[in-house]
Amino acid sequence: MKSVVLSRWLTALSACLLLQHVLAIEVNPDDETSLQDAAKTVASAMMDFYNARDSKDIPGKMDDTWWEGGSMFMTLIQYWYLTGDDQFNDAIQEGMYWQKGEDNDFFPSNYSQYLGNDDQVFWGMAAITAAELNFPERDNEPSWVSLAEGVFNGQIPRWDMTSCSGGLRWQIWPYQNGIGLKNAISNGGLFQLSARLALYTKNSTYAEWAEKIWDWSASTPLLRKTWVIADTTSTAANCKDHGDHQWTYNYATYIAGAGYMHNYTNGEESKWLEGVTGLIKTSDQFFPKSGDNQIISDITCEPINKCDRNQKTFKAYFTSWLGFMSLIVPTEITADVMARFKVSAVAAGQQCSGGSDGKHCGIRWTKKAEWDGTTGLEQQMSVLGVLNANMVPFKAQGPYNADNGGKSESNPHGGSNTKSTVGPEPITTGDRAGAGILTAIFVVIWAGAVSWMIKGA
Ligand SMILES: *[C@@H]1O[C@H](CO)[C@@H](O)[C@H](O)[C@H]1NC(C)=O
Ligand SMILES: *[C@@H]1O[C@H](CO)[C@@H](O)[C@H](O)[C@H]1NC(C)=O
Ligand SMILES: *[C@@H]1O[C@H](CO)[C@@H](O)[C@H](O)[C@H]1NC(C)=O
Repeated sequence: MKSVVLSRWLTALSACLLLQHVLAIEVNPDDETSLQDAAKTVASAMMDFYNARDSKDIPGKMDDTWWEGGSMFMTLIQYWYLTGDDQFNDAIQEGMYWQKGEDNDFFPSNYSQYLGNDDQVFWGMAAITAAELNFPERDNEPSWVSLAEGVFNGQIPRWDMTSCSGGLRWQIWPYQNGIGLKNAISNGGLFQLSARLALYTKNSTYAEWAEKIWDWSASTPLLRKTWVIADTTSTAANCKDHGDHQWTYNYATYIAGAGYMHNYTNGEESKWLEGVTGLIKTSDQFFPKSGDNQIISDITCEPINKCDRNQKTFKAYFTSWLGFMSLIVPTEITADVMARFKVSAVAAGQQCSGGSDGKHCGIRWTKKAEWDGTTGLEQQMSVLGVLNANMVPFKAQGPYNADNGGKSESNPHGGSNTKSTVGPEPITTGDRAGAGILTAIFVVIWAGAVSWMIKGA
């Protein structure tokens, strides 16, 4: 009797131990198939969250957040390119086109009243990623690169000379708290987008803006000579003060943007690689002791379990942007950080031991197999990002651009009210008159709003 109980107990125990072993996602970062399999599991669980959202009738719109749709599609486009798995492509296209906005600049009127420059730029990043990776376009829709150009064209007029001699404010409207701040993610975001547009289109206007944004940032605590990036600085203090929370994604916007500028300038301007190297060095802080200095962590929120949903996605950007950048800068520049991404990917896979299937990811990769107890779309996105970064070397192909096979057609006037090339119906004279009146009304309202914004600022 007793021995039967004991043997049953032992069986249960060993099953448990065995289960512990099978749970989580095994990642061999030196094996492309292993990475692809892991990425498929992670991306599928991410899309389960996406498909289960309350606002699922609106393509690309997530519950209580708009910007994350753009960043999620960006990681999925990378995933498609690196794995060849196209099962999410329809959802990506549908979401991206649905949210492109009335003016093809990712500023849809449903949400634009509460958006910031950073929200908009993440959709621009998704669009330039799609262009660089030749992600399929649909007929009768604006090209991916023209949508990215639309974001650029929408943001450049917001370059604000009324304080700090330049810079983008975080938010756009006078009733938003962020109107009084100039922050790293908005300026670094537009910097990176401009640099990528420069490399893709070879239009020097984008490069001039990238350099201008970099130099302006370097005149404030947002990009210090010590290569420490402040999160925010305020117009009230003429951009002399600094909110110094350290976030991976702030560093990544500037690092990757500088990498694109290095490549665009054929390595002829040392400032760009100096920036990349300096900022990668200060990013050491994101590889804390708790992960043997090898596992990436958003150190401002993870150790205290206080990451909000936005912050849970940041590691996706740091890893995948640097991963793709590794193709366009000399190998030795990124060798060390890419090696750390391998260790991080293994740990991230171990952290994917939660949820009912034992394959949902937490966010604290430094805890490895000890699941942190959280699940969510954002956690999945970050793990997908680091897996993507590790798959890049297997592709060993630079991002495409207009000169090396990029198919997406540039339109420097993207956004700025250019509609998609083919309208649904021929325009009649009556429509034109009506449109003229609407435009006139719009211009008056817009002029009013702008003067109000300037006064409010
Ligand atoms: C704007 O809101 C309407 C009403 O909820 C919705 O039908 C439409 O899809 C939304 N558009 C976008 C771009 O989200
Ligand atoms: C730019 O990127 C390409 C890959 O697309 C690479 O072959 C080239 O060496 C890079 N140029 C520089 C200066 O690093
Ligand atoms: C380059 O971009 C600028 C800014 O969008 C535009 O005005 C200009 O026409 C573009 N030049 C070319 C050659 O496409």
